[in-house]
Amino acid sequence: MIDNRRIPFNWPYMTGKELYYIAEAHFHGSLAGDGPFTRKCHDWLENRTGSARALLTHSCTAALEMAALLLDMRPGDEVIMPSYTFVSTANAFALRGAVPVFVDIREDTLNLDEGLIEAAVTERTRAIVTVHYAGVGCEMDAIMGIASRHRLQVVEDAAQGMMASYRGRLLGTIGHLGVYSFHETKNVICGEGGCLLVNLPELVARAEIIREKGTDRSRFFRGEVDKYTWQDLGSSFLPGELVAAFLAAQLEEADRITSLRLEAWQFYHDLLAPLESGGLLRRPVIPSHCTHNGHMYYILLNPHFDRTELLQGFLSQDIWAVSHYVPLHSSPAGLRYGRPHGDLAVTDSVASRLVRLPLWVGISSQQQERVVHLLADMLGKQS
Ligand SMILES: Cc1ncc(COP(=O)(O)O)c(C=O)c1O
Repeated sequence: MIDNRRIPFNWPYMTGKELYYIAEAHFHGSLAGDGPFTRKCHDWLENRTGSARALLTHSCTAALEMAALLLDMRPGDEVIMPSYTFVSTANAFALRGAVPVFVDIREDTLNLDEGLIEAAVTERTRAIVTVHYAGVGCEMDAIMGIASRHRLQVVEDAAQGMMASYRGRLLGTIGHLGVYSFHETKNVICGEGGCLLVNLPELVARAEIIREKGTDRSRFFRGEVDKYTWQDLGSSFLPGELVAAFLAAQLEEADRITSLRLEAWQFYHDLLAPLESGGLLRRPVIPSHCTHNGHMYYILLNPHFDRTELLQGFLSQDIWAVSHYVPLHSSPAGLRYGRPHGDLAVTDSVASRLVRLPLWVGISSQQQERVVHLLADMLGKQS
């Protein structure tokens, strides 16, 4: 239970049906992967997204690793991506020996700056990974145009982007491959979990093989072959049925979860308007052609504020406001396995000024007001 004084950064929302579905899986003795609840989740995801195939994985990280295998990434191949992202975006490709090439982000959405991508393309470039930060779409039309001019694959890292759209198309369905995360901190959750959306029908058969330890076990289960064997490289990327049962309950309520998060997001947005017009911070920018999913409420402090002191101030009042990514291009592994393309000034600036405010389904308006009043008070004192 949440005590009234403490405001955690995240609080997982349960629909109430999760344990019933888990009990059902238990009752039917169906615990390994790809049972009835996994099929239910696959059906939901395929119906909703229109993707050629949705495949549950045990994390979004696993889905990204599948994407790198599926796209046949080889040592020395280059993959263009932002540096302002979670490590898995880059690590999945570095695991195959590919080189993450970090490009700067846009000042407004904090997404990959599509205007800088083409200059980063070399003869070794194989793919672009778009990260839809905070569930706001990257400029996918421009990015898909660049990809087609240079024959590159596009992987949408929509870990934070489920149920959000760009020009009416769901994030994760526009590139050749897309990935979602169902980690406890995301909108729709199952503890640890993810999904690969295979948007190119010709990649579906191999994606199934990669996910099932490199075997054609999926075809065997469908009765298409009489035994299964080792076919290709792969690993065990699928979750068990208990996890899928939990997720099935969440997917049924995905629309409701999204609209409740959007309400809380908008409440912060309205409360924070005077602080933005007073020049103390910048609120998130949502382009008119993007529909977001209320995944995250962040603010960008003006550079002269001391963020460390501010976060300490929040903590002293038991409010968990947090910073976000340490840019990959300056991290120890990023220096070893990747390289920056040009100056990443926006990335560095954003990384030092961004603060994420507590947001979850069920946060009360009083709690949100407490966060904003304390923020205003602390910024006033630092001014
Ligand atoms: C942009 C991005 N990509 C990938 C991931 C990895 O997701 P998971 O924890 O499900 O592996 C995250 C997790 O926060 C993320 O934010």
